[in-house]
Amino acid sequence: MLLVYPEYISDRVRILLNTLNIKSKPIRVRTFPNGEVLARIPNADSVRNQSILVYFPTYPDTNNKLQLLFQSLEVLNDYGANEINLVIPYLSYSRQDKRFLNGECISLKLLLKILYTLNVTRLFTANPHNADAVKSFSNDIEIVILDLFKDLLNKVIDIIRNQDVLLVAPDYGRCDEVRVLGDQFGLDHICLKKKRDRYTGKVEVYIEDESLVRHKSLLVIDDEISTGGTISKASELLTNVTSADIYACAIHLLLIGNAVDRMMASGVKAIFGTNTIDNPYSILEIEPYIAKAISNMINKH
Ligand code: R5P
Repeated sequence: MLLVYPEYISDRVRILLNTLNIKSKPIRVRTFPNGEVLARIPNADSVRNQSILVYFPTYPDTNNKLQLLFQSLEVLNDYGANEINLVIPYLSYSRQDKRFLNGECISLKLLLKILYTLNVTRLFTANPHNADAVKSFSNDIEIVILDLFKDLLNKVIDIIRNQDVLLVAPDYGRCDEVRVLGDQFGLDHICLKKKRDRYTGKVEVYIEDESLVRHKSLLVIDDEISTGGTISKASELLTNVTSADIYACAIHLLLIGNAVDRMMASGVKAIFGTNTIDNPYSILEIEPYIAKAISNMINKH
């Protein structure tokens, strides 16, 4: 197997190379004055008949990165790669998994269609917004979900050193996951209700049962924190009914603009997440999970 990755993530591939003991090849990237990008795989003949592992984070600068990814996959196909295993730690466009408004594109469906057309055999990704939606649009691509929630929560609980934790889902979409985590860790949970205006993006959050908010620490758990709007609304609501410490935790920390200040101002004491996206609040690295999933796959086939 040969690991292929964009040259700007060379720091991140070290764990994979050490654990899997495979050869690697960086993808060279060029940007033209008009903004167009070009991917080049040097000595591309060597990919012929090889099984390839493409490690390609697509955030930030998603649209350019996706263009580079598509070009890289095209080159691998042109040069006769045998099988393409693709790792995208944070699956871009996964929130647009349905037509929320008439006439919108289902971007997730389109992304998977393109990856399928480019002969991706397997797609490895961490906790997408809706795993069922990803699987339903997968065509023939085998989808491997890396579930980081349990280990992330383990670390968070270790850090906040408080057993009296209430897990909070900021909306019904996250409720099942949070309930399962509550069962695994023997912790209570509640689910808030969220309404997002599909035209303005404005978020409102409601609580239906205040009786459970009597714990010393509340941990709001989401798949991703983007603008921090959802967590801030949840935190504002919770600070009205409790003086408990409020923490926020998510797999993917996009932390756009003033997201951190916004959450802190709403009462959040600390933020925790993984490195699916580079950020200063990561307490869990995804690379060992990728290495394990790839080793399992190699042993299976
Ligand atoms: C949406 O339903 C997701 O699960 C997250 O709640 C959302 O993406 C977070 O975005 P933001 O931080 O902008 O509210």
